Amino acid sequence: MTEDPTVPIQDIAPPPQGPDEVLHVVEDQADAIFTWDYAKGARPGLDRLYEKAKTSQWNARTDLDWSIEVDQEAVVAANAVANDRGRVDLSGTRLERWDDATWTRFGIESQNWMLSQFLHGEQGALVCTAKIVETVPWIDAKYYAATQVMDEARHVEVFATYLHEKLSGAYPVNPHLGALLDDIVRDSRWDMTYLGMQIMVEGLALAAFGFMHQLTTEPLLKQLLRYVMSDEARHVAFGVLSLKELYAELGESELRERQEFAYEAAVRMRDRLVQQEVWERMGVPLDEAMTVVARTPDQKIFQQMLFAKIVPNCRKLGLLDANGGWLRDRFAELGVAEFEHLPDTGEEYEMFALAGAETTPA
Ligand SMILES: [Fe+2]
Ligand SMILES: [Fe+2]
Repeated sequence: MTEDPTVPIQDIAPPPQGPDEVLHVVEDQADAIFTWDYAKGARPGLDRLYEKAKTSQWNARTDLDWSIEVDQEAVVAANAVANDRGRVDLSGTRLERWDDATWTRFGIESQNWMLSQFLHGEQGALVCTAKIVETVPWIDAKYYAATQVMDEARHVEVFATYLHEKLSGAYPVNPHLGALLDDIVRDSRWDMTYLGMQIMVEGLALAAFGFMHQLTTEPLLKQLLRYVMSDEARHVAFGVLSLKELYAELGESELRERQEFAYEAAVRMRDRLVQQEVWERMGVPLDEAMTVVARTPDQKIFQQMLFAKIVPNCRKLGLLDANGGWLRDRFAELGVAEFEHLPDTGEEYEMFALAGAETTPA
């Protein structure tokens, strides 16, 4: 990977980024693989997932109620109450002097930034999964991945539409998120694309979408996230079911590479995605911003909660136990090892299905 995850974000310059970049090229260095073994259902778990995906398609244009008007200031005010902003110690920082209008602007910029990164992450999933269609050797996995490509196109469409029609400005891809997506798509080993995208990025996204779905009072976003989550749970299951088979055959040194890859991705997602562009726009130096973030009571809990899906899924893949429990020890250092005993996502996707599931999955 190109970034050292152990260096604090305040100490690293963002990777160079062309502000006017429209097209971004990454060499994906992988072999496209044909298989002449068309025996459908040779991998029953993947076959079930594929059949489920075919009957779970929805239409971004017609299934969501795009007539709902979004009052972004009201949304920000409701979030501020839910977040209990008054509890954060701002002394010694310039946020101490912010008036209500500045806080509202900050809330709006934060939301624009967050939804923009969701959008760019969805495009990352679209590109990675299209690559998996080419690179995975199993026909059941090619079939399933093809349905995920359609799902991700729909997710890009809904987030782009929401951002451009309902919010008040879009941000370019965060340079650290962009670098992570580049690394995941660039790797020549087909399972690394799965591990980086389906297990790590989509595992984190599933937790983050669930958190936002519970928090938000905005009905269109709530509906949108519910639909997206029903698909994302299948995507994470796809990663778990595929890699479980492959990793059972790998030796310790090959597993160690996967453990390190997973750990570095985890640290980068936890420590680097700190909306630095929003702080810059608000005129707050990054070190001062990080001071405020560190004092925010729920910050640590929120960061840890993002691993609620990743850790049990890594356990299911054997990545916690390999090499004397190396990855379990690293997750313990991050304070997230206790998630290991939560249900993994290999079968959990049925709970997220839209039909008959009006309650929110955990
Ligand atoms: Fe997605
Ligand atoms: Fe996905």
